[in-house]
Amino acid sequence: MITSKRVALVVVAILTILFFLHSLRSSSPQHSPSDQLPKFVTSTRSSASQLKEDLRASMVEASRFATGKGSAAESLKLSSLQNPLKGLGTRSLREQLEYQFPYDPQSNFPAYIWQTWKHDPSEVSFEEEFRENEISWTQLHPGFVHEVITDDIAVHLLRHLYASLPDVLAAYHALPLPILKADFFRYLILLARGGIYSDIDTAALKPATDWVPAKIPRDSFGMIIGIEADPDRDDWADWYSRRIQFCQWTIQSKPGHPILRDVVANITEETLLRRDRGRLSRDHRGIVDFTGPALWTDIIFKYFNNPSVFDMSTSQGSVTWQHFTRITSAKKVGDVIVLPITSFSPGVKQMGAGEDDDDMAFVKHHFEGTLDDPFTPESLDTINILA
Ligand SMILES: *[C@@H]1O[C@H](CO)[C@@H](O)[C@H](O)[C@H]1NC(C)=O
Repeated sequence: MITSKRVALVVVAILTILFFLHSLRSSSPQHSPSDQLPKFVTSTRSSASQLKEDLRASMVEASRFATGKGSAAESLKLSSLQNPLKGLGTRSLREQLEYQFPYDPQSNFPAYIWQTWKHDPSEVSFEEEFRENEISWTQLHPGFVHEVITDDIAVHLLRHLYASLPDVLAAYHALPLPILKADFFRYLILLARGGIYSDIDTAALKPATDWVPAKIPRDSFGMIIGIEADPDRDDWADWYSRRIQFCQWTIQSKPGHPILRDVVANITEETLLRRDRGRLSRDHRGIVDFTGPALWTDIIFKYFNNPSVFDMSTSQGSVTWQHFTRITSAKKVGDVIVLPITSFSPGVKQMGAGEDDDDMAFVKHHFEGTLDDPFTPESLDTINILA
């Protein structure tokens, strides 16, 4: 006999079973919250960082495109398209560098002093012998921002300054020796920010404001360089790679100077070329020449003889070492001031250099830091003093 009581019991039983089944199924995801939650969080995190990556990439692409034909707005639009690589390379590296770091000869020399070393002056490991040198720069240049850049900081700084020029960063990264990176860094920082670069083993003898006679207007030049070597002897080639060699342990420049643009483009292209041919770590002699004073000197002479920069019709022949040998006062070539050998190499007792107390002695180079570096003996001829 089916009573309403029985029906009610069956219904309750079925409902109970259904409820249990349901709660089993729905509770199963909550069963292991520790499994589920991290998965959710991870996937959110990864998509957020993916987004950041994408944003960063599109910003980089945008600024690269900005150096190409379209406007910045067009570039942004382009960069969000499927193939962001399309349209790259419409401008040469030199044009991209010029766009990023325009040169204004009328501008002031930025009040920066840049130096690089393994250790920060605030560390105990900073060598005592460099302390006096370092302080001399600060003391003679009140109001200047004076930075000693360590390797780690250099990497971050360059990543920031050259974010839109990945080839330049790749070349810096590919250089196999610290000395090559140090060479490259000085050109890169001066191109981007301007100011004075000087090696850590140099001491300032006179403030930079006194390096060039006051009668020469400051808006008529954008770079100051000095002579490293002027070996007036027949066997000079046994010792130096160039008859006149300009030094790159001290340089003052306005940002964007065409000489810096050319040297940065040259080292970038040369490095990537050698890397791709697998010739980067073997050819030591060659690699020292391709970032150091020999290249620096070649690039400067190339600039002095560039018909698109200078009016060659009024000059007699090309500008050569003969224009600079044994000079005793500053010489102006276009927008470049060339100082005599005494200015950045006083007291070397040769090649006509005056002593440290000479009126034209501005920076003393102690040749200390360079000797720690892993040079091969053959490469020393480009940096050593004639015995
Ligand atoms: C870099 O400059 C040197 C010296 O002028 C030259 O021999 C070399 O071919 C240049 N390299 C590139 C890639 O332009």
